[in-house]
Amino acid sequence: MGSKGKAPSSIDDAPWVEKYRPKTLDDVAAHKEIIDTIKRLVKEDRFPHVLFYGPPGTGKTSTILAVARQMYGSSLRSMVLELNASDDRGIGIVREQIVDFASTKTMFSNKFKLVILDECDAMTKDAQAALRRVIEKYTRNTRFCLICNYVNKIIPALQSRCTRFRFPPLADSYVRSRLQFVIDSERVNMAEGGLDAVVTLGAGDMRRTLNILQATHMSTDVVGEEAVYQCTGNPLPKDIEAIVQALFNEDFVDVFDRVQDMQLNKGLALTDIVQQLHPWVFRVNMPAAVRIKLVDALADTEHRLAFGTSERLQLGALVGAFSVAREGIVAAAK
Ligand SMILES: Nc1ncnc2c1ncn2[C@@H]1O[C@H](COP(=O)(O)OP(=O)(O)O)[C@@H](O)[C@H]1O
Ligand SMILES: [Mg+2]
Repeated sequence: MGSKGKAPSSIDDAPWVEKYRPKTLDDVAAHKEIIDTIKRLVKEDRFPHVLFYGPPGTGKTSTILAVARQMYGSSLRSMVLELNASDDRGIGIVREQIVDFASTKTMFSNKFKLVILDECDAMTKDAQAALRRVIEKYTRNTRFCLICNYVNKIIPALQSRCTRFRFPPLADSYVRSRLQFVIDSERVNMAEGGLDAVVTLGAGDMRRTLNILQATHMSTDVVGEEAVYQCTGNPLPKDIEAIVQALFNEDFVDVFDRVQDMQLNKGLALTDIVQQLHPWVFRVNMPAAVRIKLVDALADTEHRLAFGTSERLQLGALVGAFSVAREGIVAAAK
């Protein structure tokens, strides 16, 4: 199997995403229907070409690797080819590797080989059409597992060759119990709100979730809410709430200074603050016309920040937009 990146020097500094990668199909959390179906197909020796799709960190790679481990045991290395379709050496190389691998005979003539092709949605339509022909040519002794985030970027002709499985973001309950397992195994010192913060910022992506936990654990003794937000550079919910309060109630100069101080003290980027302001525009009561303008202003600010305009200027524009909204709210109340 092609391994990505350097092997860790000892198991102790291994990234937790690798250390706690599910080893067997039973270890894969959530996705019960998918796992049951796959188990049955493996057991009945009817494993088809498959297409796994869904957002990152939901277990697509882990699932197919667990299948491979179960099917091949110790001969895994000779039976599985793991490739990335977005290989910067080009799709021609990828295709060559597949053809080389698929056309070589194995010691186990009764078993098919497995090609895992990740990031298929990065392939052009032409490359996908070529891949389909390769799949057809080697169907006799090879199975393909295509993996992608966006299934609609895969051409129908390729989709129809595969059994499709959708991996949705992991529900909080699964994320929590998996996290708790890692916390216990690593003896992570958790504090008030820490687990909730990791789950919230992880957003159903188990890779991101574990990375946040490990990064925070490495940078502080106790993993509490503040530490998690600070370590990931995200504004704390209570800080955002304070900013919202100020934006709607204080004068221009006061809000401006307050936000700038907060940015300096906590190392926050204005983009991250603006992103967190969006939901508040819908939580606070205001006339529809005022809300629409405010949403537009936030979107504009985000856009301009993304293109590198001065934060100071954009903060001014942002505070200005809220002043206008405030006037609109006051006028409507009269
Ligand atoms: N369903 C799951 N159950 C348990 N752990 C998971 C699951 N999905 C992801 N993980 C964790 O996240 C890491 C990344 O998962 P991976 O299978 O590579 O995700 P994907 O291929 O969908 O991006 C794994 O090493 C594992 O630690
Ligand atoms: Mg993957």
